[in-house]
Amino acid sequence: MKKVTVRVPATSANCGPGFDTLGLACTLYNETTYEITDRKGFQLEVTGEGSEYLKPFGRNLAFASFLRIWNKITDNERIGLKVTMINRIPMSRGLGSSSSAIVAGLYAANALCDDYYTKEELLDVATDIEGHPDNVAPALFGGFTISCMEEGKAHSLRLMPEKPLKFIAVVPDSKLPTTLARQTIPATVPHHDAVYNTSRASLLVGALLSGHYEYLGMALEDKLHQPYRAHLIPGLQDVFEAAKAAGAYNAIISGAGSTVMAYASPEADCERIAQSMVQTFAKYGEHACYHILDIDKDGVKKL
Ligand code: HSE
Repeated sequence: MKKVTVRVPATSANCGPGFDTLGLACTLYNETTYEITDRKGFQLEVTGEGSEYLKPFGRNLAFASFLRIWNKITDNERIGLKVTMINRIPMSRGLGSSSSAIVAGLYAANALCDDYYTKEELLDVATDIEGHPDNVAPALFGGFTISCMEEGKAHSLRLMPEKPLKFIAVVPDSKLPTTLARQTIPATVPHHDAVYNTSRASLLVGALLSGHYEYLGMALEDKLHQPYRAHLIPGLQDVFEAAKAAGAYNAIISGAGSTVMAYASPEADCERIAQSMVQTFAKYGEHACYHILDIDKDGVKKL
């Protein structure tokens, strides 16, 4: 086989209190085709997000990740490679676009090498490239993931929430580079803030597994990253309040931002929640679009 198309879901890391730990995959997808060609060198065609500036060289994660696995398995066999992307996941907005590129590249190379590695083995490589596992894990496995680093190795437990849940991703036009958002996080935090987050992250996992979604309002609160990043997303607190007032359980910064994601019951008026959040951003001069999403069960897969 010389050609494979893979589909990778968008992901939302942290899920409020689970900084660098919790993540979920949702039903917004990039599709990427990798083709080994006779013509040497790299070719790239992009439709959608990033089409104006992605190039087939430099730090392009889709190529670099592919080659990381390809070179390992084939002992550096020199190839021509054509990559064709249909990108729907917005970039630098906290929906895991870099993880999706990493996972697409690793998974596609592995698929072209007869699935040499397991997804668990790919998780380690993906985490090494991304720096933390909370986006790459749900991009690989789908569902809701709890990830943990031990002695440099990533471990991830994949779970599915007990009952359906809707995710309203409100995506501002303004990008927020993860490196900038991570610089705001202090090296140490007060013990009572650590306790606050431990209790809420635990409650969040319990609420999702038991279907006791009445706890989600409290369980999605955070003191480890959101307060430090709030100044980077104008109107953040009011957007949270607008989501709740319109019927969401609560809302959080998706990943490092700038997307704000509300969690809501399937019975809630998700359009109303989305509109209310978009209108609140507009009061702060920020144009935003939105996606009403479900959880993705599969993670990356071949099409
Ligand atoms: N856990 C990461 C962060 C996710 O919040 O910085 C973004 O890559």
